[in-house]
Amino acid sequence: MTLQDLLGIEIPLIQAPMAGVQASALAIAVSNAGGLGSLPCAMLGPEAMAKELQALAAGTSRPYNVNFFCHAPPRPDPAREGVWRKALAPFFAEYGIDPATIPAGAGRMPFSAEAAAILEGFKPRVVSFHFGLPEAGLLARVKAWGAKVIASATTVDEALWLEAHGADAVIAQGLEAGGHRGIFLTDDLTTQVGTFALVPQVARRVKVPVIAAGGIADAQGVAAAFALGAAGVQAGTAYLLCPEATTSAIHRAALKGEGARHTVLTNVFTGRPARGIVNRVIREVGPLSTAAPQFPLATAAIAPLRAKAEATGSGDFSPLWSGGNATGCREVPAAQVTRELAKGIPAAR
Ligand SMILES: Cc1cc2nc3c(=O)[nH]c(=O)nc-3n(C[C@H](O)[C@H](O)[C@H](O)COP(=O)(O)O)c2cc1C
Repeated sequence: MTLQDLLGIEIPLIQAPMAGVQASALAIAVSNAGGLGSLPCAMLGPEAMAKELQALAAGTSRPYNVNFFCHAPPRPDPAREGVWRKALAPFFAEYGIDPATIPAGAGRMPFSAEAAAILEGFKPRVVSFHFGLPEAGLLARVKAWGAKVIASATTVDEALWLEAHGADAVIAQGLEAGGHRGIFLTDDLTTQVGTFALVPQVARRVKVPVIAAGGIADAQGVAAAFALGAAGVQAGTAYLLCPEATTSAIHRAALKGEGARHTVLTNVFTGRPARGIVNRVIREVGPLSTAAPQFPLATAAIAPLRAKAEATGSGDFSPLWSGGNATGCREVPAAQVTRELAKGIPAAR
């Protein structure tokens, strides 16, 4: 079965869910163009999630994907939080922030029974997960209305695990990818390889369709992914400058600047490694800090620094997520990005 048949789409191209920089508008545009638009829910509360799902259902009659993180909720660790705040102390002093006034908090929520109950009202055709899969009971609830489940793998082992635990297709997320690594079977970043090394290895080992993600920003990249055994492509960074995305002005400026050629994996914004454009806090605290609390608890202490800096037009403390290949970023409608990427799909598909 082709990926199009599995997911009910015309073009085997998925707009990557990107929490924090898009909501339903981007997903609607891509689904209506024949690809699979995605709604990221990791940073949405129940009400916001329901509102965006209503907008999606009203905006397109085509299939769309709803995306969740499924990390184990962290146990708050005051000692580690203290170490983290100490590492950030010089910045708090510089910005006149009293760290005692900063609330500790999660920032990103894993998939839950509450989220499943909201989804049941909409029955999306596709649900995708990052950081593994939810526990079996929750996964069964999603599959109960016929949803196809896809999830990110960063190694062959993760792809095999996802297939064995019920994924209908696997996203092979190479090291170039923007945003969080989907890594979930290990913390060992030496296992992470580039997209064009990962895709053929995964395609050789799993039976389910493989979707290539990471650094794919033009039609030639799409064609190469298919040549290596992919049945589809998931692109994120290429959509970041689209008018339908909610990418901030600071983030947009960074993507358009010379700095976009300098990305790195960093854990300073959330506690988990994610690829973004190098900025001051990454340079001075990271990129990978042993002081950062467990995901997603690192977010709380950075938030007031980010707010103060952004108020002066600075992205020094903002997560400027980007893949290693920002050359596909253009200020054109998402349907146009989708159509241009689709030119790389082999005719036989
Ligand atoms: C700004 C940004 C936010 C992201 N947020 C999510 C997310 O919420 N959920 C998810 O599954 N993947 C997320 N990702 C990762 C994408 O699913 C995908 O792996 C990546 O965009 C592919 O690489 P590319 O950005 O080079 O195209 C994000 C990526 C970016 C760039």
